[in-house]
Amino acid sequence: MEIIIKASVAEAQDEAARIMAAQIRTKPASVLGLATGSTPIGVYQLLAEFHRAGRLDFSKVITFNLDEYVVLTPNHPQAYREFMRQHLFSKVNIAADRIHFPDGLAADVPAHCEDYEAAIRRVGGIDLQLLGIGSDGHIGFNEPSSSLASRTRIKTLTPRTVKDNARFFPHANEVPRHVITMGVGTIMDAHACLMLATGESKAEAVAGMVEGPITADLPASILQMHPRCKLVLDEPAAAKLRRAEYYRWIYENKPIWQRV
Ligand code: GLP
Repeated sequence: MEIIIKASVAEAQDEAARIMAAQIRTKPASVLGLATGSTPIGVYQLLAEFHRAGRLDFSKVITFNLDEYVVLTPNHPQAYREFMRQHLFSKVNIAADRIHFPDGLAADVPAHCEDYEAAIRRVGGIDLQLLGIGSDGHIGFNEPSSSLASRTRIKTLTPRTVKDNARFFPHANEVPRHVITMGVGTIMDAHACLMLATGESKAEAVAGMVEGPITADLPASILQMHPRCKLVLDEPAAAKLRRAEYYRWIYENKPIWQRV
């Protein structure tokens, strides 16, 4: 895992956006796995700015979002489809038929989940998967105890995640209890992963993910097994890493050709 520690949230967002932009420029028909939550908002803003400045073309990009709430209508203000429309898709030149989400309204959920996996396979897999991390170490909505080999499926949120996400809803009772999420195995199949984590509320999960054992108790820890995973942090999110100095040393001494 490549660990990049930046001095501020803005610098961490900038680094993540530059990595994503480099992916799209290198392969204009990139298949991107996208994440929601408050963390990537700044990254999407930067990508939209690059596009507005004529420096980034999304016309061939294909996207698959990690997850979606079950039973929220697609245009519900808190549906992840609406989140993505608001923060990225309405601001760049991506065609609607290249955008994919799990369908929280699917009548046959298992069949829909298989279709989602098949759609990812049909386009050759995800080139770059953007990830955030939950304070309990979840990725996508793969909560602790999720099988590390899991595929796209329905999941029940933990009370902690319901509480964490209640800030986006008028009342905690309105947070859906169920979601459809890519599995841990689905995420691990991405050719490359990029996680952005900022703020002290993520420090413990980040330390467990990087320096703790690989365990379903902290699903993000499986990323230790991913051959191409970058983790971009700000200082507060990196605060509990034992080897933070070493990670900084590696980054500072990188050969120029290895930088984005
Ligand atoms: C949700 C999403 C995750 C995201 C997490 C953290 O649970 N399903 O993909 O990483 O929230 O969100 P935030 O960035 O708001 O802390």
